[in-house]
Amino acid sequence: YSSNSYEYIQVSQPKPGVGQVTLNRPKALNALCTPLINELNTALKAFNQSDDTTVIVLTGSQRAFAAGADIKEMAPLTFSEAYTKSFIESWSLLTTEIKKPIIAAVSGHALGGGCELAMMCDLIYCTEGANFGQPEIKLGTIPGAGGSQRLTRAIGKSKAMELILTGKSFTGSEAAQWGVAARAFPTYEALMEETLKTAETIAGYSRVAVNACKEVVNKSQDLPLREGVEFERRVFHSLFGSNDQKVGMKAFAEKKKPEWTHS
Ligand code: CAA
Repeated sequence: YSSNSYEYIQVSQPKPGVGQVTLNRPKALNALCTPLINELNTALKAFNQSDDTTVIVLTGSQRAFAAGADIKEMAPLTFSEAYTKSFIESWSLLTTEIKKPIIAAVSGHALGGGCELAMMCDLIYCTEGANFGQPEIKLGTIPGAGGSQRLTRAIGKSKAMELILTGKSFTGSEAAQWGVAARAFPTYEALMEETLKTAETIAGYSRVAVNACKEVVNKSQDLPLREGVEFERRVFHSLFGSNDQKVGMKAFAEKKKPEWTHS
């Protein structure tokens, strides 16, 4: 888990089974330049494949989770460059290739692409004072990494429309009230402590079931209810083919702690 090879991120294993990526570009408030996203993708892929990792934490600093896509990098971009190089598409690796749950721990600014990156994660914890928003309208553009879709699904059309059309921020407390975040904590220290506690809890379960939970819950965002429920049932059935379903249910009957095999 050496972080030496990265310039814009740090990786660590704060608890057994927990892989952490810390965005580390303090001079630009973790603005998400392409090299940073490339490093993030490399680190996430490595955690996704590692037998030592069940759950991933993605965080920034106390001051900024991420202040958005890199405005200086974007400023000169032309339509044809953006279009032919599929600008921003590589960000979505987070939502496609990574099968393990990712918890975003958000303190400070989570603006534009920073807010979108957090919403790509599987669950968000934040500080009450975190500063979320989609301010792209102020730059003469629109959210480009899923903000208009994910924020709208999370908080409903009218609220999302208001935020995206005005560029106004919302607080971590509001994010938790509205369901964008799962929970908001009064301090940065409490945020990091509780994030790791939750990560540790998840890391204590079977990786097979953990991955399946992520997959079925995320399907609810794409599928109509009936198809979603059918999908869930198929995956549920498939888990009877796993060893850990037997381990878990036998341990319950014997009043023992399950020894997961992750198979
Ligand atoms: N891109 C590039 N650089 C950024 C940046 C960004 N998104 N956000 C901050 N920085 C840089 C600043 O330019 C500044 O660098 P210099 O010291 O070299 O001038 C440094 O980070 C510190 O920033 P500030 O001095 O502005 O710090 P502040 O505390 O006064 O303000 C802030 C903090 C309110 C977050 C402010 O920096 C800001 O408004 N940032 C831009 C937020 C934004 O508009 N994000 C959306 C980007 S568009 C997008 O993300 C598109 C998409 O959907 C994918």
